[in-house]
Amino acid sequence: MSMIERVKEKARSDRKSIAFPEGSEERTILAAGELVREGIADPILIGNADEIRAEAERLGVGLAGIRIEDPSGNEAGSPDKVQADALQGSPEAVSAGSLMERSDSSTKAKKYADLLYELRKSKGMTPEAAREQVADPMYYGIMMVKAGDADGLVSGAVHTTGDMLRPALQIIKTKPGMKIVSSSFLMDCPDKNIGADGLLVYADCVVVPCPNAEELACIAIAAADTARTLCGIEEPRVAMLSFSTKGSAKHEMVSKVQRAVEIAHEMAPDLLLDGEMQFDAALVPEIAASKAKGSSVAGRANVLIFPDLQAGNIGYKITQRIGKADCFAVLQGLQRPCNDLSRGCTVEDIVNTAAMTAVQAQGM
Ligand code: ACO
Repeated sequence: MSMIERVKEKARSDRKSIAFPEGSEERTILAAGELVREGIADPILIGNADEIRAEAERLGVGLAGIRIEDPSGNEAGSPDKVQADALQGSPEAVSAGSLMERSDSSTKAKKYADLLYELRKSKGMTPEAAREQVADPMYYGIMMVKAGDADGLVSGAVHTTGDMLRPALQIIKTKPGMKIVSSSFLMDCPDKNIGADGLLVYADCVVVPCPNAEELACIAIAAADTARTLCGIEEPRVAMLSFSTKGSAKHEMVSKVQRAVEIAHEMAPDLLLDGEMQFDAALVPEIAASKAKGSSVAGRANVLIFPDLQAGNIGYKITQRIGKADCFAVLQGLQRPCNDLSRGCTVEDIVNTAAMTAVQAQGM
C-alpha cells in the first residue's frame, strides 16, 4: 500500500471535519464529494450557500454528508432546511425556518468576530475590523478551526500560500514548545532502497525563507514528528544538510547548520539527528562510510533538513521532476492543522491533502 493510501486508511478510522474556505470552487466541491464517498473526512464548504448549491448541482455532486457554512448568514434553501420546511409544511414555517438558520449563522459569525477581536486586540484589531474579517471565508474557516468547530482546514486552490498562511500564523499559532510553523514535503520515491522504503521527508520547502540556527533545529524536530505521524516512520533519522560534511568546508553558512545540530540535540536528546552533511553522505552508505564514519544517520537518513527555503524548494522540485517522486506537502508546528494546496492542484491533490490534515488532527 502506498504512503497516501495508508494515510487515507488512517483518516477513515477516526473521521475528522475539514473546512474548505474555497467552498464554491469546482475542484473543491468535487473533492468534498469524493471525501464523503470514500469516508475519509466530513467536509465543510465555506462560501455563498446559493453559489455552492448551484455549482454542486451543475457538477452532479450530492450534498449529503457535506456541511455548508455561509459567513454572510445566507443559508436559505439548504437541503436540511428544505426537508425541515417540508415537514413543517407551511409557508410561514418556511419563512420562520429561514430566519432561524440565518440567526444561527449570524450567531456563529458574531462568536468568531468576538473571539478574533480578543485574540488580536493587542495587535490593533477593532471589533468592526474583526466583523469584516470573519465575513471573508478564509478568516471564517480559520476561526472555525480556532474555535474547535472544525478539526482542520485546507485551502489554496484559488488563494496564494501567503493568503492562508498569514491568518493561520496570526490566529491558530504554534503548538506549545514549537517556536515556528514550517512545512514538510513527503517524497514517495520510486527507488525503494532510499530512505524508509522509498519515503523521504524534506523540510522546510514552503514557509521560512532564512531560518536561523534555532529555527532550523525546530524545523528538524517538527519534520521528525511529521515523519512519525504521516509516514509511519517509527525511527526518524534526521540529516542536517549542507555543502559540507563534518567540517570538510568552513563558512558561516556551514557554522549555522552545525549550531542547529547542537541546539536540536539539546531540544530532543533522543532523536537520531546528525550533521552537517552533504546530500549524498545522508543517503548513500558507501559515501557515508568514508565521509561520516560512525554517524547514526549518514547513509540511512529518512528526514532531510535543508539549510534554507531556496535549497528546500529547489530540492523537492528536483526530486519530483527528475527523480519522479510523488510529493505531498503539509504544514507543521501549528496548534491545529491547516494545509495549503498549489493553485494548479487536481481533485486528487485536494482529497490527499484533506486526508493528511485529518490524520494530523487525530494526533492533536
Ligand atoms: N511561524 C510562526 N509564526 C510566524 C511565522 C512562522 N514561520 N512567520 C511569521 N509568523 C507570524 C509573525 O510572528 C506574525 O505574528 P503576529 O502578527 O501575531 O505578530 C505574523 O505571523 C505575520 O508575520 P509577518 O512577518 O508579517 O509575516 P508575513 O506577512 O511577512 O509572511 C509568510 C509570513 C507568508 C509565511 C512569509 O514568511 C512567506 O511569504 N513565506 C514564504 C511563502 C512562499 O512563498 N513559499 C514558497 C511557495 S509555496 C510552494 O512552493 C509549494
